[in-house]
Amino acid sequence: MAFLKADRLCKEFISDDGKISALSDISFEVEKGEIFGIIGLSGAGKSTLVRCINRLEEPTSGCVLFKDRSINGLSAKELRKERRKIGMIFQHFNLLMQRSVLDNVALPLEIAGAKRKEAREKAWEYLEAVGIPDKANAFPSQLSGGQKQRVAIARVLASDPELLLCDEATSALDPQTTRQILALLRDINKKYGITILIITHAMTVVQEICDRVAVLEGGRLMEMNTVKELFAHPRTKAAKRLLLIQEDDNEEKEAVL
Ligand SMILES: Nc1ncnc2c1ncn2[C@@H]1O[C@H](COP(=O)(O)OP(=O)(O)O)[C@@H](O)[C@H]1O
Ligand SMILES: [Mg+2]
Repeated sequence: MAFLKADRLCKEFISDDGKISALSDISFEVEKGEIFGIIGLSGAGKSTLVRCINRLEEPTSGCVLFKDRSINGLSAKELRKERRKIGMIFQHFNLLMQRSVLDNVALPLEIAGAKRKEAREKAWEYLEAVGIPDKANAFPSQLSGGQKQRVAIARVLASDPELLLCDEATSALDPQTTRQILALLRDINKKYGITILIITHAMTVVQEICDRVAVLEGGRLMEMNTVKELFAHPRTKAAKRLLLIQEDDNEEKEAVL
């Protein structure tokens, strides 16, 4: 049984300029417990793909199977239930600015019906798990980017997800903070057994944390392999291009250090 399966997914958008094929015939499987990367340049279709996986977007054709069940055939009620098992973190954190850190993390628990006191106690535990219990009473505006992403991760843990979608979750962070957040995601993967889908434009992110990776370009899946193999023997121009960009980045960094 595949834990997550995209089966011949296609997504077209109609715009003033005509039809855009954001996803063309995308198929892949992610195993339970895996950290799977989807990499591509801006406009490759990565966000559209995640939005189809949590059904914020309806594919034009094809389907997504979560634990062997198509999420495309679900009723609204069933969808709400399944969605709870799929958490998401974003580039810009999406925290509620008027709520304290603790109350941000407690929110999904309260929505699920927990009493406020119980929700806040649980929220404490998750803040400890992400390493910022001392920030419980702060407000998001008082936190660094890395701390904000930790709050977002604590909040997602509070929903007890089985699958975590990370759409450019480290793209607003500096390299050192990126590494810390990726290490935290790896811990969470191990400790809670949460399967993680990492969506990124950065090969360094894939290299740091992913088991396998799929390369997207122009809405097509160009290549899929273990990270080790992809780095050692990239087969397509798309993969080679992304690896070259990473090398350029490193040279730039070396030049300024
Ligand atoms: N709601 C939309 N309407 C029209 N075009 C869209 C919409 N969402 C995405 N697109 C187009 O689909 C393509 C893929 O976009 P996206 O999935 O956001 O790429 P990525 O996340 O890899 O940068 C782009 O050409 C984008 O302009
Ligand atoms: Mg995107």
